[in-house]
Amino acid sequence: MDKMKVVGGKALRGTVRTSGAKNSALKLLFATLLAEGKHTFHNVPKLMDVDSSATLLESLGAIVTRKGHTVTVEVKAPGSFEANYDLVRKMRASILCLGPLLTKYGQAQVSLPGGCAIGSRPINLHLDGMKAMGADIELRNGYVHASAKRLKGTNILFEFATVGGTENIMMAATLADGVTTIENAAKEPEIVDLANYLVKMGAKIEGAGTSIIKITGVDKLKPAEHTVIPDRIEAGTLIIAAAIAGGDVTVADCVPEHLEALLAKLREAGYGIETAATSVRVRSTGGAKCVDVTTAPHPGFPTDLQAQFMALMCVSEGVSLITETVFENRFMHVTELQRLGADINPKSRVAVVRGKPGGLEGAPVMATDLRASASLVLAALASRGTTTVSRIYHLDRGYEQLELKLASLGANIERIKSDGSDDSELA
Ligand code: EPZ
Repeated sequence: MDKMKVVGGKALRGTVRTSGAKNSALKLLFATLLAEGKHTFHNVPKLMDVDSSATLLESLGAIVTRKGHTVTVEVKAPGSFEANYDLVRKMRASILCLGPLLTKYGQAQVSLPGGCAIGSRPINLHLDGMKAMGADIELRNGYVHASAKRLKGTNILFEFATVGGTENIMMAATLADGVTTIENAAKEPEIVDLANYLVKMGAKIEGAGTSIIKITGVDKLKPAEHTVIPDRIEAGTLIIAAAIAGGDVTVADCVPEHLEALLAKLREAGYGIETAATSVRVRSTGGAKCVDVTTAPHPGFPTDLQAQFMALMCVSEGVSLITETVFENRFMHVTELQRLGADINPKSRVAVVRGKPGGLEGAPVMATDLRASASLVLAALASRGTTTVSRIYHLDRGYEQLELKLASLGANIERIKSDGSDDSELA
């Protein structure tokens, strides 16, 4: 397995571009199942999770072609309606094919995704929503077996503003009979991007990006063309990289409004932040201080930036309380950051970080999930000496060439290709 080798201590300077949003691209790809014909997407990041989504669509009969960052999906009536275990276990977002298949073809069999490194991550809210729309849902042999003649519009109130649940129900409702209202809907920018594409396909959707989304079902949708929004989590990771390493960096091709919660915390910590229409400039003059952060659904502080922000707090002045409210087990990076010398005391969902400016030292560490991997790379930028981060296949799921982007800003970082000798780690 590949590793990342980072020699810390280099300030970052220059401009770096943001790629398309992973968490938008995946849902857009699954939305194609709602209409046969050729769908075209631009600005699709080159990532393992995008490849896994393409494989799933291909297993359902679609032809997926990529040229650079443009992906076309030629959708045909599937021969089977099954998303199998091997595909779903690799990528939980595969559950997002359930709503489209069920509403378009009246049936779907999708493997239950199971838990993952950051929490148990149930899908009960997706399933309850579809049941409320008249679907028959049974769980058998590890699979969700769903069927319905035609889904019926109804009122759905989520007890938690679930991102995937909102997306699955919104897609299912596009072809349902009547009006579906989702209350306490998630408001993430990726939901707005998905709704925008569905509207281009002919769907009737109002309120995406607010907590009440109203979808009026139509009889048929058609394929369309769309450009994926910039990845706010990648942009945020690059911004935190600039903050932790020091220097003067402009992160281009992003949407600063999507990053407000992060930028507010960085300003509070003492960083110079300037925003323009599609870019954010971060300047670090040293002496940044610890601030408290509590994750929350958008527009709150994103859980997907919690690990990276914790790395920054590890080298800032003072004490920071980091509270994770979205996932029950998203502190797996703590023990690895401790290997670099960080002073973190996690208790349940709150971690107390005592900052040690200049106090981290390079060490071998191991990535446990996507954002944890990113936090280790960022911490390594601020550590004395060499850090090797192993299991970076997690990083490749969600960051397009992170090492090349950081190296272009002056970081001393390189990918060490596996020679196969350490693949026992797979166990
Ligand atoms: C999406 O996951 C993202 N994934 C996650 O990004 C992100 O962390 C998360 O939203 C929150 O922002 C994709 O978009 C592919 P949720 P999702 O449904 O949809 C509980 C990354 O690093 N819940 O909003 O799975 C759940 O257990 C990833 O890119 C239920 O209890 O998130 C969790 O605690 C990781 N029942 C909370 O809600 C349900 O039916 C939030 O989950 C659904 C969710």
